Amino acid sequence: MLQQLKFNGDVVVVTGAGSGIGRSTAEALAELGATVVLVARTLSKLEEVKASIEKSGGKAEVFVADVSKEADVKALRAFVDEKWGRCKAIVNNAGNNFVSLVTDLSTQKWDELIAVDLNSVFYMCREFIPLLLKEKNPSILNVASTFGHIGHPKMPVYCAAKGGVISFTRQLAVDYGTQGLRVNSICPGPTLSPRVKGYFDTGRTDPTETLSKVMLGRFAQCDEIGNVAAFLVSDAASYVHGASILVDGGQTIN
Ligand SMILES: NC(=O)c1ccc[n+]([C@@H]2O[C@H](COP(=O)([O-])OP(=O)(O)OC[C@H]3O[C@@H](n4cnc5c(N)ncnc54)[C@H](O)[C@@H]3O)[C@@H](O)[C@H]2O)c1
Repeated sequence: MLQQLKFNGDVVVVTGAGSGIGRSTAEALAELGATVVLVARTLSKLEEVKASIEKSGGKAEVFVADVSKEADVKALRAFVDEKWGRCKAIVNNAGNNFVSLVTDLSTQKWDELIAVDLNSVFYMCREFIPLLLKEKNPSILNVASTFGHIGHPKMPVYCAAKGGVISFTRQLAVDYGTQGLRVNSICPGPTLSPRVKGYFDTGRTDPTETLSKVMLGRFAQCDEIGNVAAFLVSDAASYVHGASILVDGGQTIN
């Protein structure tokens, strides 16, 4: 199994790799020998992650892109194609949340969130699938959320987008499985990323209310999600296909 977990220099693209779950996923992949393409909007954050990976003996490249923009995703794909001409896997992790009742939600905010949480996954998959199909045992991992499976107070756009990611993932699995491309989604439960910490610090969401639903009684650390994400795109998960993997400390079982 250890051999199947190794990437031996294979190129893996991780979006939203500047912090949180994306950063942890990128670090886990680099530890397993992947050449990781770190993608986010802020160069300084990406450079920090790259330096940390290289300090541990791993390989990484940075690419600045707003993945909610089609042109940026096309430029990313061109960069990967020109530099390596191959890509083993993509992890579509970039995302955001907005807390509001639907009656208080502007069309602009709806469009903005759908663009980053759902459209970005569409752009990434459409642009990268031709490149992935040239690879042996390629895979796509889309980062959805438990809130794609269950409801949560005041999260109409986030829940809709993540439900869309799960459904879109399943559909791609139907269309591309016979060509050897594995496509899965991962659904983290509440995870202490910088963004989520910020929600608690500013009182936007109540941690005790969230935790009361989590059977392990605690939040995930980002690496507890990143480790599973790295496994899912590796050859060690070769029969996991079209799945929506809950990594939620038991949030959805109660
Ligand atoms: N933290 C949680 O509790 C939790 C739970 C379930 C799902 N998720 C999902 O996990 C993913 C990562 O979340 P996180 O909590 O680590 O967030 P985070 O804010 O800590 O990290 C997200 C990263 O994505 C980047 N990003 C955001 N919009 C982008 C864009 N348009 N283009 C490029 N990069 C962009 C950010 O700059 C950041 O580097 C998201 O898709 C989120 O919905 C998180």
